[in-house]
Amino acid sequence: MSTVSSETFSNILLEQVREGVYLLTINRPKVLNALNEETLEEMNQALSIIITDKSARVLLIKGAGEKAFVAGADIEHMSHLSPIEGKAFAEHGMHLFRRLETLDIPVVALVNGYALGGGCELAMSCDFILASENAKFGQPEVNLGITPGFGGSQRLTRLVGRAMAMELLVTGRSMSADEAMRRGLVNHVYPLEELLDHGLKLASMIAGKSGSAIQLTKQLVQRGQDLDLDNACIMESDLFGLSFSTDDRTEGMAAFLENRAPNFS
Ligand code: CAA
Repeated sequence: MSTVSSETFSNILLEQVREGVYLLTINRPKVLNALNEETLEEMNQALSIIITDKSARVLLIKGAGEKAFVAGADIEHMSHLSPIEGKAFAEHGMHLFRRLETLDIPVVALVNGYALGGGCELAMSCDFILASENAKFGQPEVNLGITPGFGGSQRLTRLVGRAMAMELLVTGRSMSADEAMRRGLVNHVYPLEELLDHGLKLASMIAGKSGSAIQLTKQLVQRGQDLDLDNACIMESDLFGLSFSTDDRTEGMAAFLENRAPNFS
């Protein structure tokens, strides 16, 4: 395991844990990994490092400690903000989470405890979520007299449907990992002590696949969900054609025909 540029970060850790696999840990356990401006900025810098590494294949995100993924935006920080500063803070988080969502490689949230407010919003900006049995998901902003600010009202509605999103948003109640899985927010639930291992195994499996095919597939899913079906299908045939221009296509099909495992570049 190697830590990348750790000296420049004080709120996160960025490690390359296996070939092509990055692990970003939000590292403010004393405040349950709450997100302040500095943490958002460091996450932005981490994404810039990952983007420039052409061998990067998967990003895993987790929280430090055993209690929380991220317990929300930092309430102490927000308590001093003016309305204009509040909007700027939301835009900062919104920009980062959109960048994460549209990163060329799959991003998997390992939700190891509370994922509330900005934490739930962060998890929902990842491609999918693996959770520990003690995970809790929710948007409790209503209890603070504010709305979600990092995309929670929009992504939660798209993921669990309008009626359930409204219930969660107006009551501020949190969901257990099992309920979140039943509602389609979480892919798998594991005992806390096994979560990272499962995340690493999955990441290694993805890292062995064709990077170019995965990049195009992510674009199809991300861009296609906001298109009508006709245009989404046109985009799929376009990118299908584009995938035929890659070395991975040559290798993948040759490997199949030669009855051997592919060795993607
Ligand atoms: N911001 C700042 N500090 C936080 C925090 C947050 N979101 N969540 C927890 N902390 C701090 C606590 O203040 C406490 O600090 P001290 O030890 O200095 O008192 C420490 O973390 C431990 O927390 P608790 O003692 O509260 O731990 P608990 O086990 O009793 O409760 C909890 C855990 C239920 C998660 C509770 O901490 C909590 O409700 N946190 C706030 C959750 C929340 O409201 N999140 C949404 C924030 S708003 C938002 O995110 C807006 C947006 O969309 C951008």
